[in-house]
Amino acid sequence: MREKNVVNVGLSNSVRLVHPMHTVLVSCAGKDGKPNIITLAWAMPTSISPPLVAVSIAPRRYSHSLIEETGEFVVNIPTIELLDATFYCGIVSGRSRDKFKEAGLTPMPARKVKPPIIAECVAHLECKLYGKFPTGDHTIFVGEVVEAYANKDCLSETGSYNLEKARMIFHLGGDLFATLEPKIYKPKT
Ligand SMILES: Cc1cc2nc3c(=O)[nH]c(=O)nc-3n(C[C@H](O)[C@H](O)[C@H](O)COP(=O)(O)O)c2cc1C
Repeated sequence: MREKNVVNVGLSNSVRLVHPMHTVLVSCAGKDGKPNIITLAWAMPTSISPPLVAVSIAPRRYSHSLIEETGEFVVNIPTIELLDATFYCGIVSGRSRDKFKEAGLTPMPARKVKPPIIAECVAHLECKLYGKFPTGDHTIFVGEVVEAYANKDCLSETGSYNLEKARMIFHLGGDLFATLEPKIYKPKT
């Protein structure tokens, strides 16, 4: 077979080929208790037992130092209604700004960790730091999920999201985002 008709992608842009990525808002706080939010497209589950989630954060982010300081964070799931706030938390730094206030998001006490949850999000995974790994120009923080809960009306009986109610945000790249069509497919076998 002759070579496929392809377009070459610069290596620094190759990450875009694994997007769109499910985008989350991670809340964290320093020892002084002042909370911050960081938008992350690079987040994924890595273990069921124990339940672990990994987030990849560049060392220059303020949130990187906060998570190193306290070892706690919350992975909050925003929906498309929060697109502007989600983008905002991904372009300004909490070093000099109060992102909760400026993005119009509400901090609410978490159950088992000090950083607050983001009330407007539909689901929350409270995490305690399990491990961290340097990876090129980012650090992978692995969090052990110590509490997890979601808005009642956003989950179906199977425990999966109801996609009509919870229209999650997916990051394509730059300032481009998508959400899922609320349609479920099942493989034949
Ligand atoms: C949609 C989107 C996704 C992002 N994903 C990541 C990511 O996965 N890892 C990361 O380190 N930064 C990511 N960023 C950049 C940070 O969110 C951004 O630098 C933020 O302002 C850092 O805030 P902080 O300095 O308050 O921690 C993303 C930004 C946007 C808009």
